[in-house]
Amino acid sequence: MKLAVLILTAATALVLLGCPPQKAEKVVPVKIADGDYDPANWGKAYPVEYDLWKMTAEPTPAGKSKYKKGYDTDRITYDKLSEFPFLALLFHGWGFGVEYNEPRGHAYMVKDQLDIDPSRIGAGGVCLTCKTPYASKLESELGVSYYMDPWKDIHAKIPEKHRELGVACIDCHDNKDMSLKISREFTLTKALEEIGVDPAKLTRQEMRSIVCAQCHVTYNVVKNENMKSVGIYFPWKGSKWGDISVENVIKQIRADKSVGEWKQKVTGFKMAFIRHPEFELLSRDSVHWKAGASCADCHMPYTKVGASKVSDHRVTSPLKSDLKACMQCHTESKEWLKGQIVAIQDRTVSLIMRAGYATATAAKLLEKVHDAKAGGVTIDPKLYDKARDYYEEAFYRANYIGAENSMGFHNPTEAMRILGDSVAFAGKAEGLLRQALAKSGVDVPLVVDLELDKYLNNRGKKKLMFQKDMVIEDPSGVQQKFL
Ligand code: HEC
Ligand code: HEC
Ligand code: HEC
Ligand code: HEC
Repeated sequence: MKLAVLILTAATALVLLGCPPQKAEKVVPVKIADGDYDPANWGKAYPVEYDLWKMTAEPTPAGKSKYKKGYDTDRITYDKLSEFPFLALLFHGWGFGVEYNEPRGHAYMVKDQLDIDPSRIGAGGVCLTCKTPYASKLESELGVSYYMDPWKDIHAKIPEKHRELGVACIDCHDNKDMSLKISREFTLTKALEEIGVDPAKLTRQEMRSIVCAQCHVTYNVVKNENMKSVGIYFPWKGSKWGDISVENVIKQIRADKSVGEWKQKVTGFKMAFIRHPEFELLSRDSVHWKAGASCADCHMPYTKVGASKVSDHRVTSPLKSDLKACMQCHTESKEWLKGQIVAIQDRTVSLIMRAGYATATAAKLLEKVHDAKAGGVTIDPKLYDKARDYYEEAFYRANYIGAENSMGFHNPTEAMRILGDSVAFAGKAEGLLRQALAKSGVDVPLVVDLELDKYLNNRGKKKLMFQKDMVIEDPSGVQQKFL
């Protein structure tokens, strides 16, 4: 009887905890020297994890993931600007509008910076912050010149042997006992303190997400009056653990003029930017966050290699590893789970397109207004100011979910909410701009020509071109009606 109660209690606890994964076999700590950056040395103690980690350099089979196809066996890079052509217009004016690819394995993070169009690393050494394990060391040794100096100068300060090394054991682990740790105090620790979280008090399960949040978050580069980079921060001010909202992020980056990192060519506006907010989106009340799931649960599931059971250090899309991760908690079939992922992503993609094209249309109307003003036409300033405000709100929301890498899966309802607001803001902006132009006697055609060819072709040093076969079609087919 007692035993039955015990078992029942244990089972209930499991259910309440959202079925945490089983514990891996106990590891015997082997001495790794303090400050050893070299994964090969860590690999001597932990060869299985090391071999899996190295496998992030391998291509993945084509056809497993519908939307996240970076480095499958078909192609190395997938051009996001061809996948979503409106991005070329919206990001025209700086690096993201020149070359912007889908992510691929961790082994490539620094190599891809060496290959990418130089406009993408124009901000300076600061761009190495979520790439090299030497980032914190360089930042503390070099101070402001770490941020400001040309990327190649700071990159050259990394020991030669490690100039292509991406995220390494030392980024996520304490060498003494292999526990998880934050290695980027100057970004993540500061941001956590800003939202009232003591990093030392995070639970093991929280750490299994937080190590990823060193990089898979949005951040802003701080500029001085000469537009040189002087700092970096996560725009989490005003937010709380489990509640970093897009509204708070936008509020902060619009209020802080020092993070106006680029000038959008079409509108002439100085803008901030939002990058890959995976941690923020997942942790804002998603079903899986509430169920206690961590990034590692889905992207580093326990896996058997020979006699050992280890965390899969070949970090990748769960679709590419045949949804092994999901099966730790779910009893549904792989087909069902894949169907759910794709259904969520299809809906998100439809709305990303709606938001993206609507925002691009508003940008083109702003261009018309600016041309009209330059030609001596007076535009109602009240209508204009309101339209600009709505336009920026629409832009940042489309930017947020467009940059988040799960195509909605990490938090489907939140992604739809944000995109819905983007569509609404962009529609409002368009209406106000049409009203302002009409009031001043400027004719506006029914369909605004986005002139996408102009933005998509001959991009940067590599003269990158639009690749029609990469375009993602609206799964609902509705977008065609708007074009
Ligand atoms: C030091 C920064 C950093 C850390 C820490 C980090 N990532 Fe990444 N991650 C990146 C970068 C950069 C890329 C894109 C690399 C490229 O395309 O060259 C990436 C790519 C990925 C991909 C795509 C892989 C593929 O096969 O396409 C996944 C999935 C991913 N990361 C998940 C995680 C998870 C989960 C964690 C925590 C366990 C984590 N990352 C920790 C920087 C980081
Ligand atoms: C409940 C499972 C789950 C959790 C938890 C989860 N992810 Fe994901 N993640 C997914 C799925 C599913 C995709 C979509 C993969 C695809 O389309 O191929 C994805 C996609 C991604 C991608 C893009 C992968 C690629 O191949 O380009 C990255 C990066 C990523 N997640 C990082 C994270 C980070 C960081 C966390 C924690 C903050 C996290 N994920 C938490 C399931 C999860
Ligand atoms: C992006 C972060 C990240 C990097 C890089 C990383 N690990 Fe891990 N590692 C984890 C996570 C998360 C766990 C699970 C820890 C837990 O649940 O307490 C883990 C667990 C481990 C464990 C415990 C046993 C197991 O497999 O669960 C060992 C040993 C280990 N890692 C070795 C390594 C080695 C060696 C490297 C470098 C070659 C490395 N790790 C790189 C995140 C990382
Ligand atoms: C740590 C445990 C855990 C992991 C790992 C996990 N899930 Fe879940 N998942 C849950 C729980 C708990 C729920 C909520 C209860 C339920 O609906 O079953 C849930 C709900 C869902 C739902 C319904 C979502 C909704 O909004 O109602 C889908 C779809 C789903 N999971 C897919 C996946 C996929 C795909 C993966 C792998 C990439 C995955 N899950 C990995 C625990 C997990």
